[in-house]
Amino acid sequence: MKVLVVGNGGREHAIVKKLLESTRIKQVFCVPGNGGTATTKGCQNLSLNIDDFQGIERFVMVNNIGLVIVGPELPLSLGIVDYFQQKKVMIFGPTKAGAQIESSKSWAKQLMLEAGIPTPKAAVFTNAEAAKAYVVEQGIPIVIKADGLASGKGVTVATTIKMAHSAINTIFRGEFGSDNIRVVVEEFLTGQEVSILALTDGIVVEPLLPAQDHKAIGEGDKGANTGGMGAYAPAPIVTPELMDRIQTEVLEPTVAALQKRNIDYRGVLYAGLMITAEGEPKVLEFNCRFGDPETQAVLSLLETPLEDLVLACCQQRLGEYPIRWKSGAAVCVVLASGGYPGSYQKGKVITGIEEAEANGAEVFHAGTQLKQQLVTEGGRVLGVTATGETLEQAINKAYTAVDCIQFEGVYCRRDIGRRALGDRSN
Ligand code: AMP
Ligand code: GLY
Repeated sequence: MKVLVVGNGGREHAIVKKLLESTRIKQVFCVPGNGGTATTKGCQNLSLNIDDFQGIERFVMVNNIGLVIVGPELPLSLGIVDYFQQKKVMIFGPTKAGAQIESSKSWAKQLMLEAGIPTPKAAVFTNAEAAKAYVVEQGIPIVIKADGLASGKGVTVATTIKMAHSAINTIFRGEFGSDNIRVVVEEFLTGQEVSILALTDGIVVEPLLPAQDHKAIGEGDKGANTGGMGAYAPAPIVTPELMDRIQTEVLEPTVAALQKRNIDYRGVLYAGLMITAEGEPKVLEFNCRFGDPETQAVLSLLETPLEDLVLACCQQRLGEYPIRWKSGAAVCVVLASGGYPGSYQKGKVITGIEEAEANGAEVFHAGTQLKQQLVTEGGRVLGVTATGETLEQAINKAYTAVDCIQFEGVYCRRDIGRRALGDRSN
């Protein structure tokens, strides 16, 4: 079978490489892909935009593509799945209606409230003054969220009233879209965050290994939020008992609530949870896709062929496939361009990837491009991923490989995964 993967991040490179482990996958195409998918044997990049559904359709029809897998939220929220389902093309991901679980935080909040899913208390406003008055009434800290897609930049954890008001002003100035502006003002919770990526065929929902992401740019989780500076799996904080609760209190009721709205949700349901000091799982957000960089760590441990699971979701047969895992742990350390998540330079020559891989890691590309040489092209450049019998072994292996790679201005956190080893400084 030939597969087409939509996206250009580390997540998509990980999906491509996982698919190509199977002898049944003859060829993979990536739209638009990156320097890693361009150099992966068996994969070819297509220079089309991810919202050019007609262009992608022409390629799919001419080349007899059997399956399309969508990585990022943008094309899902624009209805890429609805488009290809109408053309009878097998495509993995939720429809536009289902993708609202990520593309509208107020919609997701309403769904959670109706279904009794544990989530922090929140109020939704269409007017800045009312939102600001509510903030004063509730006090700080408080969390201000833009309603729509904001590439990870729409959430402010405000520690002063001034900060909260300024975040509200930014949202109502139209910084994250000027149509139908809404803000979600949410109770601030403390605890540990976990990412539960679950597969669903609209009926059955199966969690993948629990993962933790490190969102802040600085060590000890300090500084600005990023798309994710690293991840590890499985996250030991999610005991089997806690996973059972997440299954029955979060995942199953969410799929049932989607069904109740006549939404046939097939794809990844990603719950971003806060585990409170009392051990309660509360949903901070849902995403309608695989997480990045969690996917790089989680797929490294997947034993069941990925295409079996993806096809089972599309064909509503997920119940037939128990998900099998390799033993041990995996960690992904992101190498970023200096300056990220602020402004950074591009076009820096990258060296040492082969040496890193000779040291037992797998290097997934994110913001890279293949010119005469491999060069940087984005903020998050590479995801150096290693597995080990223990998390500590995986961490050591990943950092040995990290130290082989160079490009001007390279930055990474040195503490990825350490939190789970009981290092209190994290
Ligand atoms: P979200 O996109 O909603 O997951 O928010 C991005 C990040 O903001 C989360 O990963 C948390 O670190 C933080 N955050 C969001 N909501 C809350 C909340 N209610 N309490 C504390 N932190 C939050
Ligand atoms: N790693 C966070 C996300 O994928 O949204």
